[in-house]
Amino acid sequence: MLAGASDVSTHVGRSFPGFRERLRDATATAHRDLDAQLTSFDLAALSGYRRFLQASAGALLPLEAALVDAGVARMFPDWPVRSRSAAITADLGRLGSAARSMVRVQPLTRSGVLGTMYVLEGSRLGAKFLLKTVADAADPRIGEATTYLAHGAGQRLWQSFLARLEAEQACDEDEAIESACAAFAAFEQAADRA
Ligand code: HEM
Repeated sequence: MLAGASDVSTHVGRSFPGFRERLRDATATAHRDLDAQLTSFDLAALSGYRRFLQASAGALLPLEAALVDAGVARMFPDWPVRSRSAAITADLGRLGSAARSMVRVQPLTRSGVLGTMYVLEGSRLGAKFLLKTVADAADPRIGEATTYLAHGAGQRLWQSFLARLEAEQACDEDEAIESACAAFAAFEQAADRA
């Protein structure tokens, strides 16, 4: 379920295809596979939803830790608003489970931070879609554990991330793409293990 050309994409100061388009193209197959893998979890059932959160946390926790270690807050001063580790930990706690890392993430360079942020910020778009599925769940415990999926709603975090990406002048795009692919692989591995 990938986006086509989006109205938030701009090419100011860049030749076509832009950095964001390169990131999207390079990760399109991985996104499609992950989308299929995650939608196979039964999100309307408590056990399926809990497993989905465990899988998501399994990748999100080590990826966010690697971002912090690489100094993400210097590049994104609004990092505390963007971080979702606490949200997913709280959701899993409400469902009687714990959030734990399931994959190893390599240390990130500055460009690697941007590639990883692209994947994590983009995952909010999928979360918005999944939230609709979860909203139909009959079990009220599911609806009370959606801090992660609803995180940042209405704050235009994806749009402001894209603006930051487009303004980037000192990024090694190939290195960023490599990290974006590694971030998708981390989610795929965690989904396999959950
Ligand atoms: C079942 C799960 C998922 C579904 C149904 C889904 C669906 C979507 C949809 C509908 C969009 C486009 C939204 C828009 O342009 O308004 C999107 C974009 C995106 N998603 Fe997912 N997604 C899922 C999971 C994920 C996950 C887990 C990640 C990352 C780990 C991810 C990364 C991205 C990225 C990076 C984009 C932006 C692509 C671009 O540059 O346009 N998605 N997703």
